[in-house]
Amino acid sequence: MIEAEAKKSLFFNTSMGSEINYKDTFSITTPLYYVNDVPHIGSAYTTIAADVVSRFQRLQGKAVLMITGTDEHGQKIQRTAEARGKSPQDHCDEVVASFKSLWQRLNIAYDRFSRTTAERHHAIVQEFFQRVWDNGDIYEGHQQGWYCVSCEEFKEERDLLPEKRCPIHVNKTVEWRDEQNYFFRLSKYQSQLQALYAERPDFIQPESRRNEVLSFVDRGLQDFSISRINLDWGFPVPTAPEQTLYVWFDALLGYVTALLDPDEAPSLDAAIARWWPIHIHLIGKDILRFHAVYWPAMLMSAGLPVPGRVFGHGFLTKDGQKMGKSLGNTLDPVDLVDRHGADAIRYYFLKEIEFGRDGDFNETRFINVLNADLANDLGNLLNRTLKMASRYCQGQVPNINPAEISPENDLKSKGEILAHTVKTAYENLAFNQACEAILGLVRTSNKFLDEKAPWTLYKQGQQAETEAVLYAVLESVRLAAYLLSPIVPGLANAIYSQLGLAVDFNHKDIGTVCPYAEHSRWGYLPTQHPLGEAQPIFQRIELPE
Ligand code: MSP
Repeated sequence: MIEAEAKKSLFFNTSMGSEINYKDTFSITTPLYYVNDVPHIGSAYTTIAADVVSRFQRLQGKAVLMITGTDEHGQKIQRTAEARGKSPQDHCDEVVASFKSLWQRLNIAYDRFSRTTAERHHAIVQEFFQRVWDNGDIYEGHQQGWYCVSCEEFKEERDLLPEKRCPIHVNKTVEWRDEQNYFFRLSKYQSQLQALYAERPDFIQPESRRNEVLSFVDRGLQDFSISRINLDWGFPVPTAPEQTLYVWFDALLGYVTALLDPDEAPSLDAAIARWWPIHIHLIGKDILRFHAVYWPAMLMSAGLPVPGRVFGHGFLTKDGQKMGKSLGNTLDPVDLVDRHGADAIRYYFLKEIEFGRDGDFNETRFINVLNADLANDLGNLLNRTLKMASRYCQGQVPNINPAEISPENDLKSKGEILAHTVKTAYENLAFNQACEAILGLVRTSNKFLDEKAPWTLYKQGQQAETEAVLYAVLESVRLAAYLLSPIVPGLANAIYSQLGLAVDFNHKDIGTVCPYAEHSRWGYLPTQHPLGEAQPIFQRIELPE
């Protein structure tokens, strides 16, 4: 009874812990990507989303730790390195460089890059293994089954495609394994996991994924093997150095190692002191089981609190087709960012796809969305309003007291509630809703400008009315830029600068530089200061012939 209570409180404390932390710190992870190849668009998608969430939290003044990194051990990597005639470490180092370079091009402001081959990660893995071992949750057993090297996971025979192909890597056949391994006692945690899901309904998101996990767990959990024989590329099992640790056991702990300060001596206590538990693990739906079932059970076994939530996003397709090298229809993120820039890619994937559902990339649609939203609706609006302000208001923000603008004013009434709507959307990872709400204000501003026709008001000598219209539009563009800044930081910088406000949205301390309470409020735009020169903020993209 006492033991049961103690176990129960393990995750109970966790939820309380994450609430306490939530007030001033925020930590988020992307998966640690396999380095069997250069990064693909799927890795870019999760990383962009994690960056956007981090930026929104920073905007609100939180201390944020965004973790990304690479998963470098295991058979898949060893074989890839062999095929390239490289040592595994040299191979990993090369691929890691390509990840870091892509994150830079995509303007990803990560705080930690966790590599599972790091020496200090080894120390963390050993200590964690020892805790789980001491808790009696590791035992020797016999493992037989079909293994997908690309997933680095055993598969149920009933889930395989014809010719024993993996359901996820449809061109790869699974391999038969029959070996003496070490096992983790996952089955012991069945009821604790079920209690966790029941007590914290938002632990797994979205709802559809939560249901998948719940029914998987309800069918009964089986222990899984956490070591491999005949594999050199991994950490040796502390109690049996002739075996190596299963890549997933090692990889998930990469999230913990990442929490250490750069020169800190590695220990579990040091690692979890400030940022644990992680608030959100962002992952793709294919690796949900590892994060929502295996991982919390491993943490419970080691006596560590479980994370705040696990969000499994959907898969990207191209022109409606599953992407793959053998299908010849991959979408190269480097090529895409070189041709269109970071903001365009960040915007398209977050605006056009409901996060959590599968989504598609289609070039025509990509171009149309960017031209319509960023070049026309937002870009042209700013451009023509600035030009009018230059002509009608001596290039200054009109001298208007926003408090005196009628609450009936369409832009004011929409603008005043926008930050609230957008904050909720970001917090729910509903990026498309955040974009829609912001673009709603932008479209209303275009309509407002056309209806009020300040060029006519000016000609009629109605200076005050002209200025009131221009102020309301400029302020709406500013607010849109501010709230969009987590998604399109480059564009937000350009807009702020043309509004005469020197702010760098890439600043890690943006919440202090540009306080949320002030900047998220419609009416913030200081009056009578010089506006910048009107320049296109987003170049229209031409449709290919
Ligand atoms: N190494 C593991 C993760 C370990 S985390 C401790 C891994 N790596 S991965 O490189 O194969 O996959 C990384 C992510 O890419 C996963 O979240 C996966 O869902 C995602 N995607 C792979 N293909 C994808 C698409 N086509 N679309 C969107 N995301 C996709 O798994």
